[in-house]
Amino acid sequence: MITAANGIFRLTTVDTEYIFRLSKYGHPEHIYYGARLASSAYAEDSTAEIEALAPKRTAQTSSIVAYNREDPLYCLDMLCLEWSGIGKGDYRYSPAEIKMPDGGFVSDFIYESHNISHGPLPMETLPAARGTESECSSLILRLKDQACDVRLTMIYTVYDTANVITRRVVLENGDSRPLVIRRLLSMSLDMVNMGFNLITFDGDWAREAQRHDRPLQYGIFVNESRTGSSSNKHNPGFLLCEKDASENYGKAYGFNLVYSGNHLGFAELNSHDLVRVGLGVSPHCFEWTLNNGERFETPEAVMTFSDTGLNGLSRNFHNFVNNHIVPEAWQGKERPVLYNSWEPCFFNFTQGKLMLLARLSKKLGMELFVLDDGWFEGRNNDQAGLGDYTPNRRKFPRGLKPFARKLRGMGLDFGLWFEPEMINENSNLYRTHPEYAVRQKGRNSTLGRNQLVLDLCNPSVRDYIVTSVGKTLDETGASYVKWDMNRHISEFWSYHIRSSGEFFHRYILGLYDILRCIFEPRPQILLESCSSGGNRFDLGMMCFSPQIWASDNTDPVVRLNIQGGLSYLYPQSTMGTHVSDAPHQQTLRETPLSTRFNIACFGCLGYELDLRFLTPAEKREIREQIAFYKARRKTLQYGSFQRLDSPKTNKTVWLCRDKKEAVAGFFQTQADVSEGPDKLRIPGLDPDTLYHIKTKPQNLYIKRFGGLVKHLLPIALNPAGFILRTVNRHYALIDCVETYNCRGSALAAGIMLNNQFMGGNYNNKTRLLGDYGSNLYTVSSI
Ligand code: GLA
Repeated sequence: MITAANGIFRLTTVDTEYIFRLSKYGHPEHIYYGARLASSAYAEDSTAEIEALAPKRTAQTSSIVAYNREDPLYCLDMLCLEWSGIGKGDYRYSPAEIKMPDGGFVSDFIYESHNISHGPLPMETLPAARGTESECSSLILRLKDQACDVRLTMIYTVYDTANVITRRVVLENGDSRPLVIRRLLSMSLDMVNMGFNLITFDGDWAREAQRHDRPLQYGIFVNESRTGSSSNKHNPGFLLCEKDASENYGKAYGFNLVYSGNHLGFAELNSHDLVRVGLGVSPHCFEWTLNNGERFETPEAVMTFSDTGLNGLSRNFHNFVNNHIVPEAWQGKERPVLYNSWEPCFFNFTQGKLMLLARLSKKLGMELFVLDDGWFEGRNNDQAGLGDYTPNRRKFPRGLKPFARKLRGMGLDFGLWFEPEMINENSNLYRTHPEYAVRQKGRNSTLGRNQLVLDLCNPSVRDYIVTSVGKTLDETGASYVKWDMNRHISEFWSYHIRSSGEFFHRYILGLYDILRCIFEPRPQILLESCSSGGNRFDLGMMCFSPQIWASDNTDPVVRLNIQGGLSYLYPQSTMGTHVSDAPHQQTLRETPLSTRFNIACFGCLGYELDLRFLTPAEKREIREQIAFYKARRKTLQYGSFQRLDSPKTNKTVWLCRDKKEAVAGFFQTQADVSEGPDKLRIPGLDPDTLYHIKTKPQNLYIKRFGGLVKHLLPIALNPAGFILRTVNRHYALIDCVETYNCRGSALAAGIMLNNQFMGGNYNNKTRLLGDYGSNLYTVSSI
């Protein structure tokens, strides 16, 4: 809900409230962002209450520049503002650096008018959150510069039940002289410091979204990407929380951006203990001229607040993404269990091998077969072929159509990999159209994974991609696309833009245009975006792509951090999570099949291991895992997700629940010796309802006991010998299963689990976790 009276603007969601007012000179002054205040405040004029909440200006200090020479107490540097220009006494980082039509950098935007509308205000160039008129409303606040005919419109959209407010701006030049934007962020917000910690999610290839915390110090902290995409280096989303906030306690603010290109988020603590937070398109090599009558719109920034810790914040973000970001056709829709050919095959496959894998995957319960890289002309390694999406004649002599038909005949859907934004120099497309590649004349072109980037600023390139990808999709009847993008951008230059300062943003606009043209007419296709794993895991891509491949690293122990990190900002329904072989390809770590599944099931499940070499016991285990997942798919993909605080650093506990049932995952990294008891807390269920809690039965292979096994047998057998290897292929014990019946209140207090193996005798009431062991617990009401 939005109210505006007496120059006071109140933006309320179910649990949060955001207030600002117009200062006496017309600057929008921030008053409050936090838990919702009592609703009686609306009953009458709340000016008095606002006065109490507002930061005071009663004493004058030195070393300031007063905004008005008659008014020494009004200094922009000491105000909490909703927006601030440059050159009028505010020395904090401004959300905008504009060379104004008068040739100077000074800008001073003052309130002109406002209106409130139901629903979101449509965007012209960028994807944005969607919502109905009853779900959200927008405040449109128009400001005008004091000296030039330049307007800045600030747009706030309030999503009631998601507890989210989005912000963006539009800059419009009404002056006859041009202006040049060097930086224009989507939002700026000033608050009084609460002893904030700043949390970012950083990484690189195969270790995306690692959580990093630091106290906010004097000066400025910048979270930026300059790679051309939102990047695996610094996810655009970040959090600011009270010093002692934890997963379930304390006040926390979250920020994110609906954008897939270079971004910049910052938090600045100034000398007066005011904190400014801003977020938007990165100013890195950005320069955009606006001539008379032209406008520039920024992407939408997303803000949320919770006073129930970081889980509360994540819940808001998750609801927002599930209900307002992903394409409507996929909203709340269960995602298929898929099999992906990449890790088992890489580029080396025949149709016979693929069909064998497909048959095996179908037998185990998978629903979609994804043909990854290597299927098109010239693509037998990563040095050639990108750009030419005609099927490789040696691998598919009759094309892909009959192959896809055969898959469908056996009851599997067909999905296909593309990397449409890229080109290899060794490709027919490059030989015919070398000018399609991004490069700067007079400079050597640098390669990433042996490839160049296609110039998406060029309309002919966009048309080529839309036509060639669209044609293959229609011919094959694919129901799923994995859209990859495997390099950062370099030598950015295009002959199709006015200046190279436009390149990065125009590239992303070009990408969105292509995605719109391909997928809007084909809403039934599930798009999974990928960029060497999670190099473009952002809300912009999610507007087209309901799920994103979280990381090329499927080692479950690393995935605890990657999926755990992403979970602060994005729901499980958006994360591609696969079970692959062990020892793992990138870490060489040996982990139990059960743990690989137990972590992958908190997302959109897939398998990417070589099914041909599974033992009969492993096949039985996978079949049973998939059946388990399908029976709880809605809860695992869309349930309310929580990270539970654990007193032990070698344990991680995740919980996913809906009204009736819950699944908890208990994960151990390094085993300790003779550890104390483990407690499992399952909060949030109905306190008076009786529930049945049960460990999901899972295989315990005797090879896990190593040499110990000979102590259990009447005769000594070589643990690595033929007999035990054969037994291990066909037979497995069932790991300790515990069952309890108790009320929701007792579950919230925590149940004490059976002991872990402590090096003594083993019995089936002992939890055998060891290194990287884990268990799932199901909870259902009785
Ligand atoms: C990237 C992706 C992988 C796979 C390969 C294919 O690395 O992240 O999942 O699709 O490309 O080349």
